[in-house]
Amino acid sequence: MARARVASQYVCQVCAATFPRWEGQCRACEAWNSLVETLVRPARRGPSPGPGSKSTGALLEPRALATLDAGAAARRATGIAEVDRLLGGGLVPGSLLLLGGEPGIGKSTLVLQMAGSVALRADTADPGHSTVLYASAEESASQLYLRAGRLGLAEGAAGQRLSVLASTDVDAIIAAAIKARPDLLAVDSIQTVVADGLDGPPGSVGQVRESAIRLGAYAREYDVPVLLVGHVTKDGSLAGPRTLEHLVDAVLMLEGDRYGSLRLLRALKNRHGSTDEVGVMEMTATGLIEVSDTAAAFLGTGRRAAPGVAVAAILEGSRALLVEVQALVAPAGLGPPRRTVAGVDANRLALLVAVLARRGDVDVTGRDVYASLTGGLAVTEPALDLPLALAIASSHHDRPMRADTLACGEVSLLGEIRPVRGLERRLREAARLGFRRALVPAAPTSASTSGSPLDSRLELVPVSTLTEAMDRSFASATGTSG
Ligand code: TYD
Ligand code: MG
Repeated sequence: MARARVASQYVCQVCAATFPRWEGQCRACEAWNSLVETLVRPARRGPSPGPGSKSTGALLEPRALATLDAGAAARRATGIAEVDRLLGGGLVPGSLLLLGGEPGIGKSTLVLQMAGSVALRADTADPGHSTVLYASAEESASQLYLRAGRLGLAEGAAGQRLSVLASTDVDAIIAAAIKARPDLLAVDSIQTVVADGLDGPPGSVGQVRESAIRLGAYAREYDVPVLLVGHVTKDGSLAGPRTLEHLVDAVLMLEGDRYGSLRLLRALKNRHGSTDEVGVMEMTATGLIEVSDTAAAFLGTGRRAAPGVAVAAILEGSRALLVEVQALVAPAGLGPPRRTVAGVDANRLALLVAVLARRGDVDVTGRDVYASLTGGLAVTEPALDLPLALAIASSHHDRPMRADTLACGEVSLLGEIRPVRGLERRLREAARLGFRRALVPAAPTSASTSGSPLDSRLELVPVSTLTEAMDRSFASATGTSG
């Protein structure tokens, strides 16, 4: 395929100096690894190509704001409730979406399910128009067919309406989409497609950016939603979706423990909706399914009182989730004591260990401390402090907390318990799930909950310091009456 050769150059992302070849350090500003391959575009059409580049300087008519709401009304539901909730109702035509996540987490599965669902819901009155185009730059068509078979999409109407293109050439994908006029174009993944004119390997910042720019221009020009899949590595490095964040309209992240079954779908950015939502799904043998009770999903089955366990009520977006925090305090081996975490912020753990030692009379500084959340959830919320501290203390003392007790609160450096946002929402879910006792911050803001009709079976135990919280958690039965 002989195409006209377009020149590319390397542009420093820090100082905008240009170089003909890649170099590790910018010679102009001395920044390291800042050069990104970029196409040299003809300047006659104004500063940037892309949307609007069709116009050749013709006078454009501005439109009254009130006449512009057609786009919002055209939002198309995908039919997967958790995704639609996150997107604020569905896919907006002409928008560019990015679904990110670690390799193996289930991105391709979710995208294929969305594609299948959109295909099944699409209006087929218009012949000669395929409803969804799935461009697979990562898997072969036969691999895709096997996956679709697992998801029950290979046969029937979905199998007819879903078109697949196995190609890594972004221009070929766009050309196929222009011809097929789909309701949705999915590209899996943006790191494996290449744009003509750039020499960098697939996945390099220049390739990823240029491919996304071209797909975005297609989306807006033809008013088709385009869904990109992007990998992030554990360290968030190399041409990950981070490069793309400002180019796309929405970024959804699929998170969770790839060896577990629960997945959290989070909106990191959303131009057409709120980022205050999360979706919870479960990976099964036949794809991702909705979880019936999201609040209880991460709690694990069978409540038990065990040393080192505390239950936290955390807030993910507008949803309250209950999650089990586990800690293990063990004698240290040689060398510095270990602090190993899963789903918990390591710095926060270090801080809590220090506060427990100085303000709580629980000195585990010289011992190994392990902490994790069940279900593969990763939480950075301050409300996790108190349950985490209690789990550590519980393991240290080898005394369990009551199984029907939960805790939430931020712990300050002075060992005080600070209020958390949305306490009432958290407590409501806890009460619904059968918890009978909650350790909550004894601050003025939490007082409002006492006046509202919370489940009367949930006993609130206001605590103002870490010491008080521990006294109320591990005290004998008589201690709970006061
Ligand atoms: P995949 O969607 O390929 O992940 P990604 O595109 O993010 O790399 O999914 C990977 C895992 O999902 C793989 O280990 C197999 C599992 N899986 C299921 O458990 N059930 C299914 O129905 C499918 C299709 C995959
Ligand atoms: Mg994949």
